[in-house]
Amino acid sequence: MASIRLGKLNRRQLFTLGAGVATASLLDPADAPAAQAAAGSSGAIRQLTAAPSEAALRGGEARPTKVWSYNGSEPGPVLRVRQGAPLRALVRNGLAEGTTVHWHGIRLPNAMDGVPGLTQSPIAPGGTFEYTFTPPDAGTFWYHSHADSAVQLGRGLAGALIVEESDPPSFDRDLLWVIQDWRLMQDGQIAPGFANPMEEGMSGRVGNTVTINGRVPEAVQVRAGERLRLRLLNAASARIMSLRFEGHRPTVIALDGQPCEPHEPANERILLGPAMRVDIVLDALGDPGRSYPVIDDFYDRLSYTLLQLVYDTAPARRAHSSAAPLRLPANPVPRPDLASAVWHELRLQGGMMGGTGMGTMAGMGAGAAIWAINGVSMTGDGSGDMTPLFTVQRGRSCILDLRNETAWWHPMHLHGHSFHVISRDGVAAPHDEWSDTVLVRPRETVRVAFVADNPGDWMLHCHVMDHQVAGLMTTIRVA
Ligand code: C2O
Ligand code: CU
Ligand code: CU
Repeated sequence: MASIRLGKLNRRQLFTLGAGVATASLLDPADAPAAQAAAGSSGAIRQLTAAPSEAALRGGEARPTKVWSYNGSEPGPVLRVRQGAPLRALVRNGLAEGTTVHWHGIRLPNAMDGVPGLTQSPIAPGGTFEYTFTPPDAGTFWYHSHADSAVQLGRGLAGALIVEESDPPSFDRDLLWVIQDWRLMQDGQIAPGFANPMEEGMSGRVGNTVTINGRVPEAVQVRAGERLRLRLLNAASARIMSLRFEGHRPTVIALDGQPCEPHEPANERILLGPAMRVDIVLDALGDPGRSYPVIDDFYDRLSYTLLQLVYDTAPARRAHSSAAPLRLPANPVPRPDLASAVWHELRLQGGMMGGTGMGTMAGMGAGAAIWAINGVSMTGDGSGDMTPLFTVQRGRSCILDLRNETAWWHPMHLHGHSFHVISRDGVAAPHDEWSDTVLVRPRETVRVAFVADNPGDWMLHCHVMDHQVAGLMTTIRVA
């Protein structure tokens, strides 16, 4: 669907994804060894150690891949916490460079946001930092490194954070797919060459190996008639996905953790940019004994089968889809008042092929400036010295027009808040969408609005890591 040409992809590897790898029955988070440790109840302190480790990404006999992970688990342990209960995480740095943990999508106090140089100093090698906050919203969130971002996220420092509804709706199973994308060499090791300026100006470091919950997937076992809640999390550095569940009609029930009006996705595809989460309900209405592919066809001519849904031969559990309501309980996110809102425009600029404003960009930070927001490039992991793009008075409603003047897609992310997606190119968003990361198409303008109720300096950036570190980043101040 997208007319983007990819650079040096190992196409054969990409096409054969999901074919003939290990037969691990996948993806019930309760099966993951890491889930046990994390399943602990509220109040307990969770320990997270960022360090080099190995992961059997390719499964079976294939040589494990050297990654950087939390607690030796790739992805990191699934953290589960009850809505409104405190989360305490003691992060230990076992890397040879500074790190931080960012709790993506959680509306938390600024000092806990994990942005080096802006909200805290990086955790030095051997050092620790305790994060404490109470997630106000239930939903599917995640955590990841925010230091040396392109490298640390690209090497695997990410995991899911699930905030459970206090009165959870009933599903037969609750599955989590943490989807990651790796560029592996022939020997299964991560290819060097992060932050390559050529790629930074295009679609970013799209890899050649997609994993789900740390493994190249083959099959997900399904029982006919069951109703699944499937939490999709795109934890890739750059890969955008467009997932089609052949033979099924998924219903989207939450975006970026925030409940939405249940709806079938446009074009029967679930569009998932980096950092985005989509919760779907999947009624398993296929035939017992049959298999149905899940296909990702985002990039032109690079469509591949992510995995197969394999129905067991048992007769259907129920004949029709469950009548139970799909709507998730609302989160306490304040609704912006558009009439009294302040308005700001963010022009996204730069990149290859028809970028604008490159001549006038003023760089702030480390690394090359290839992208800019309103003519200014904040590069690397950001810079605490940079003047915020604007200041908004605490409690005010704020409208942002994200105007993409580039030839590339950008998943734009705001820290510390969830925003209401108002319109795309002036057309009202159809499903009462709230997000923290919105995918902006080439040349598109997306209007979002939020109540600036969380004081502090907050990052606003593209979540394609190559774009972020090359300048598609800024901060806003709520004071
Ligand atoms: Cu998930 Cu600033 O990032
Ligand atoms: Cu974030
Ligand atoms: Cu981008």
